[in-house]
Amino acid sequence: MTRRGEQTGGHSARQIQLINTLLEEEAPLPLKQATDQLFTLLAAYAGLEEPVHRDNLKLPTGTAIGPYWAAMCLKDFLRTQRFMSGIYRAVSDARKKNPGEQIHILYAGTGPFATLVLPIMARFSAKEIAVTLLDVHAANLVMLEKVLDALGFQDRVKAFIQADAATYQLTDSSKVHIAIAETMQHALEREPQAAISLNLAPQLAADTVWIPQNIRIKAALMNMQKDRDRQFGLLPEGETSYRILGRVLDLNAHTAREMAVRIAENHPALEECRLDIPAEQAKTFPWLALFTHIQIYGSYALHAWDSALCAPRLLAHFPDLPSLPQQVNFTYRMGVTPGFDFSLH
Ligand SMILES: C[S@@+](CC[C@H](N)C(=O)[O-])C[C@H]1O[C@@H](n2cnc3c(N)ncnc32)[C@H](O)[C@@H]1O
Repeated sequence: MTRRGEQTGGHSARQIQLINTLLEEEAPLPLKQATDQLFTLLAAYAGLEEPVHRDNLKLPTGTAIGPYWAAMCLKDFLRTQRFMSGIYRAVSDARKKNPGEQIHILYAGTGPFATLVLPIMARFSAKEIAVTLLDVHAANLVMLEKVLDALGFQDRVKAFIQADAATYQLTDSSKVHIAIAETMQHALEREPQAAISLNLAPQLAADTVWIPQNIRIKAALMNMQKDRDRQFGLLPEGETSYRILGRVLDLNAHTAREMAVRIAENHPALEECRLDIPAEQAKTFPWLALFTHIQIYGSYALHAWDSALCAPRLLAHFPDLPSLPQQVNFTYRMGVTPGFDFSLH
């Protein structure tokens, strides 16, 4: 393990090497190794202990997973790599667009490591970036201070805030160039990504870059046998294990503002979405599922099967129903257990 005494200029050589791997490597094995090693290093800095830091917090808008699970997200290595790279690109672009300005980043839902902003903290100075770090778990803030202290990144921090990002009102009037939140599970269920977006996006300027730039939920029909073939590389070239029925929701800064207005006017967050189910496809692809596509920033994205966040969410198996449905209707449920409700007709 690297100790503080071995650091140069506040950053340990091992840490920098791992961060470079995370930003530059594409191959799964070195990426997995780098995230595993980084986890061990950061957990030691943080004093993260599995039994102590497991407890989830039930909020009125969803579950804030316990610090240990939030830290473990680091190991979802493609997710981590794409988010880190997208955020690095977003900061580089913001610096070009705003020459001479310090780039202010608001990060909601940091976990104990502020994982997604570690590379920009390593590569940009305190003159170049300032990061506001917000999490609802008090223990995360305590561990985060230890981690950033050990890495010598404390001077990049504008503020540590312990608050619920789904209700928090920004008090700092300084411009936010980039806002980041990754508090989601597949199909936007259980965690409060939508509620956080609906609260924060309307408080931010129209030109604040929101990361992820867009989360697209699509309904699809799946064939699980074909999907097993896909997993083992046995699906013939050009074939897929699914058929897309259509788009159910785009969650981005713009739609978050629209959804916040709908809720303020006592309408459901999402207008009901109706999609036809073609009978021929339903016979060959008998599962109804939701797909999650995350456009992080520019061309940095996560598609189905890249990450746990994008794993298809199975909803219904048609052969178990009395008859083959012809249509599916979706609404989005906000509250303690957010997620999509659906009805088949
Ligand atoms: C899925 S973890 C992700 C951690 C880290 N952002 C990453 O990507 O590796 C989500 C984090 O968001 C925090 N969180 C969830 N809901 C929150 C809320 N309403 N307000 C503030 N933080 C929240 C949780 O405590 C947890 O640390």
